[in-house]
Amino acid sequence: MNFISAMRCRLDNVFENVLFYGKCLGFDLKPDLLACDYVRCNDFTKNFEIDDSSFFIGDNLSHLTTLANTFRETVDLCYIDPPYNTGNKFLYNDSRKGECEGFFGIHNSWMRFMLPRLALAKEIMKRSGVIAISIDDNEFAYLKIIMDTVFGGCNFIGTIVVCRSKNGKGSNKNIAPTHEYLLVYGKSDESKLYGNQDDSNVYDKKDIHGSYKVDGLFRKKGEASLRSDRPNMYYPLYSNPITGEVSVNASPGLIEVFPVDSKGVERRWLWSKETARMRSWQLYSSKKNVIYVKNYSTEGKRIKIRTFWDNAEFYTEKATNEITQIFGNKIFDTPKPLGFIKAIIDSMAKPDAVILDFFAGSGTTAHAAALLNAIDNGSRKTILIENNTDIPVSHIAYKNGFNKISDITNARLEKIHGQNESFKYSVYKNN
Ligand SMILES: C[S@@+](CC[C@H](N)C(=O)[O-])C[C@H]1O[C@@H](n2cnc3c(N)ncnc32)[C@H](O)[C@@H]1O
Repeated sequence: MNFISAMRCRLDNVFENVLFYGKCLGFDLKPDLLACDYVRCNDFTKNFEIDDSSFFIGDNLSHLTTLANTFRETVDLCYIDPPYNTGNKFLYNDSRKGECEGFFGIHNSWMRFMLPRLALAKEIMKRSGVIAISIDDNEFAYLKIIMDTVFGGCNFIGTIVVCRSKNGKGSNKNIAPTHEYLLVYGKSDESKLYGNQDDSNVYDKKDIHGSYKVDGLFRKKGEASLRSDRPNMYYPLYSNPITGEVSVNASPGLIEVFPVDSKGVERRWLWSKETARMRSWQLYSSKKNVIYVKNYSTEGKRIKIRTFWDNAEFYTEKATNEITQIFGNKIFDTPKPLGFIKAIIDSMAKPDAVILDFFAGSGTTAHAAALLNAIDNGSRKTILIENNTDIPVSHIAYKNGFNKISDITNARLEKIHGQNESFKYSVYKNN
């Protein structure tokens, strides 16, 4: 088989997957795939090496097809901020509320737009890859259906609620939404979020082993926590409520404690008596003789990401200020704040991650990755895709010298390079 037919064969497989997911939701995506200009885009990847940032200009369906064909299983983190289908007049089309047709009514055409792109993105992601998608109530439920179909319900990691303003927006009836969502999936059971940086300030106690906090009961809770489940893990401990020390041996002045809960139910400890004997230094007794396991602070420790993000750095207003500061005017309608994208990148992927954003807009993802690299010496690289849609002459961006939306992304990359000359980026554009 020669190179061309090998490529063709791979592409057929990619398309087959996309068509299959489409079929599951009742879409015939053949016409969409046939219309996409991946043939010309294929040329780009001939000499393509991933730079600090690699920017592909044009429709993302074509570029994703090319990347799915030639750069399979490359990406660690995919972050996207697609058009939310608000119906608002932005620089780009944000109205895909078609006729009420098919299974999903007016959501049909937005879903038909998103599904093939997400299916292709999955091909480009590593098996251990993670995808996080910003969305609001307009399409949240329908995006969840697409994601469950393409990535599988078993690969759903979580939904994060992100506060984006204090006062809420819009004139919707009697409710002013102050939040949007970040929907997170893995590609497979190998996918794992890197985790949030731990805050060393919360380790408020200290012993010879280091700083620690007391936040986990030594009595088992929930499933298989009864004495009858593990009889050998039901034994007395001896607590010293004054020093906080715990022992497996009785001594005068120590209080005997069993793993019995507040309702009098006999449960069990987390460890066997032998383990508790060897690691008794790790146990802590409160003044009320409740036994805890000390949680020690360690260098670079990562903790679970929580599902509610409320940080003024993540507010929309912040992003608008940033765009104005960078470009001198509010030339992009719906940017994301740098702090928010930095938080996503830092908590969801390692510092050497390859990150894909195929709704790149003003290029915040590349900027956030570059700033994080400067902070932690990481080697994150980004792949961006943005359309070359014309900007209306009446728009402030046009008046500031931008003819196409992709010109804005490009200009942001140039600015990042201006701040740090070692930041290298390449632009792939079909004429
Ligand atoms: C909500 S904005 C993304 C904003 C971005 N997160 C930022 O911080 O600036 C969505 C972007 O997707 C782009 N877009 C929409 N459809 C596209 C397509 N088919 N191909 C490439 N880009 C597209 C729009 O032009 C718009 O810039």
